[in-house]
Amino acid sequence: MLLKNIQHKPLKHYSDLHAHEFAEKLLNRMTTKEKIGQLYQAPYYSDTVTGHAFDASSTIEEIKMGMVGSLLSVHDEGTLFDLQKVAVEQSRLHIPLIFMFDVIHGYKTAFPINLALSNTWEPNLIYRIAKAIAYETAHAGIHVTFSPMVDLVRDPKWGRVMESNGEDPYLSSELTKAYVSGYQGDSLSNKNAVAACVKHFAGYGFVEAGREYNTVDVSKRKLFTMILPPFRAAVSQNVALTMTAFNTLFDRPATANKYLLKDILRNELGFNGIIISDYTSTEEIISHKVAKDEKDAAKQCFDAGLEHEMVSRTYLNHLQSLLEAGEIDYSALDEAVLRMLMLKYKLGLFDDPYRNLYTNSKQYMLLENTKKLAVEAVEKSVVMLKNDKLLPLSKHEKIGLVGPFIDSKDLIGEWAALCEKSDVVSIKSAFEENHFPFKHFEETAFEDLKNDNEVKTVIVALGESGAHAGEGNSKTNLHLDTHQQNLLKSIKQMDKKVVLIVFAGRPLILTNLINNADAVLYAYQPGTMAGIGLFNLITGKTSPSGKLTMTFPFHEGQVPIYYNHLKTGRPFDEKRPTYRYNSRYIDAPNEPLYPFGYGLSYGVFIYTNLRIDKQNLHPNEQLNVQVTIQNDSIYAAEEVVQLYIESEYYSVSRPVDELKAFKRIKFNPHETKQVDFVLTMNDFRSYNMNMIWTAEISKYQIKVGPSSSEKLSQSIEIKDF
Ligand code: GLC
Repeated sequence: MLLKNIQHKPLKHYSDLHAHEFAEKLLNRMTTKEKIGQLYQAPYYSDTVTGHAFDASSTIEEIKMGMVGSLLSVHDEGTLFDLQKVAVEQSRLHIPLIFMFDVIHGYKTAFPINLALSNTWEPNLIYRIAKAIAYETAHAGIHVTFSPMVDLVRDPKWGRVMESNGEDPYLSSELTKAYVSGYQGDSLSNKNAVAACVKHFAGYGFVEAGREYNTVDVSKRKLFTMILPPFRAAVSQNVALTMTAFNTLFDRPATANKYLLKDILRNELGFNGIIISDYTSTEEIISHKVAKDEKDAAKQCFDAGLEHEMVSRTYLNHLQSLLEAGEIDYSALDEAVLRMLMLKYKLGLFDDPYRNLYTNSKQYMLLENTKKLAVEAVEKSVVMLKNDKLLPLSKHEKIGLVGPFIDSKDLIGEWAALCEKSDVVSIKSAFEENHFPFKHFEETAFEDLKNDNEVKTVIVALGESGAHAGEGNSKTNLHLDTHQQNLLKSIKQMDKKVVLIVFAGRPLILTNLINNADAVLYAYQPGTMAGIGLFNLITGKTSPSGKLTMTFPFHEGQVPIYYNHLKTGRPFDEKRPTYRYNSRYIDAPNEPLYPFGYGLSYGVFIYTNLRIDKQNLHPNEQLNVQVTIQNDSIYAAEEVVQLYIESEYYSVSRPVDELKAFKRIKFNPHETKQVDFVLTMNDFRSYNMNMIWTAEISKYQIKVGPSSSEKLSQSIEIKDF
């Protein structure tokens, strides 16, 4: 490994025009076979290859022949260097490889899983986190991260909700902008930047019954109002790649869906980056029963606009013959290759193909600043669901620590790149580091706990393993296992005060748990600095401020359950709860256990005096909204103030609430603030009966509050435009 001898060159910023000129000149020297090679992403480690006979030595030969454009999930510097060296020294045109990897919530420093990060409702924090993730990723020699994942989610049975930004399109769009701009920075030639890949296009979060890789069936309006907005947001930040989804949409696999990839992604959203498949999703259109064989699959995907094939080899094996038979166009091939060459050029790989490859990348990992940011992320992503005047704990009483997760390091979740569980600070370690008086009771010592009169408060840490969420981990049972439920019950029967902390990659059903705890913190999978962030919250160093971005069901039978649902013709009537002929269940409430936007604080926020500055809104006007919020507590705390609208009538049925703005506001103890929002006509628009993006003349409610279920309201009319 000659890594130590590399002389790195400075990377220059290249404009698109300059990159295009360079790429075009190079393209004209390429053979068709070499062009097709640029469209192939090879795996390298055999453990990343599922279902394929695989031989790494053949990859090296193919790199020499210019038949590989990028590599998947290679992440050790020596191998990256060796493979790049083959490409730039032994291939005919010396075109460098591009290295792509899933780094979605941390490369070496594990931040909270993305669903937890979305609970911060803080785009600027997400931006800083994405920059920190990019810094570690780039300095490990990786060029592209397959992130952000922006699938809108409504079903906690689906394991991949852990990667998402939750159930709201507006919030997800704001966070998506922050991820992409944080990863990519102002130039891909910046050594601290990586190119981003938004995924999965589109609709993967709507898999039927929450079952992984299952069918998706949504309306065009749901595609436009719920699924597309975060992709539109990613394109607005010049996201470099878009990854297609495994699922069908309108009964065509997304990877071979011309309507989706050309009409929507290219033309409607204006995306001009690279369209990459998901892992063998090209070949899988045969399993979807829309292609008769590999060659047919290659043709359909290529015709649909799919430009880079991940792992499967339908392009490598069949594009040449399809081109020669005139079944696909050389111009389309050139367009796809140009995009790949331009991306490599803008990343500086033609100036320095060994960009950010060092013998000692460890110096860039787990830096103090990065870990400090990770603590902030934990503090702001944990959601306090209940607090019967128990938290924060005072430091003068010894507390009990109990439960399978109290000293666990299984807190980094899936898709954790090279993050190590061994680096995780557990809850118990954090209490030790802070010299907080505690006693750890193993389950076998519960009699001691029961009889220990000094210990009046117990922290019980329960949860699901990180391996229970993520890809390929859909599950039908959303409860903690019975053993853990009984453990909590038995402690509650000891007449102790209980702080329950739950670790999970998804919303679980907590209905039967919450009465056995006096305070509940939902920590998701908080990552490397889990224990520190939780300690700071439990002891009041900082106040919880996270707000749910995915609804917590009262019962799993309610799923899918989400806040922005339609009203129906027979909405539930609280005044007549048992009336049979309304939209309801006979054995469960309609309401969730905890709604979208919900989360408690040590602050006590009182919302009063919501006012708007006009009763009628005209096209070019803006609507000024103001609310008074008082923090009626002794604690400094941050509150996420949420603004929703509701259209009272429209040419199609619209959700009962639509999030349109939010602000995270800091309050000192007993401080009162006026919080302002500005809305424009665009905030009232939706896709009407003819799929026209318009507001329509109607009456709208403006609602402001601490969650989707508690709001002050004012009405406004749009009479003409
Ligand atoms: C996986 C995932 C996708 C990931 C890709 C590469 O199957 O669906 O999100 O980026 O393969 O690892």
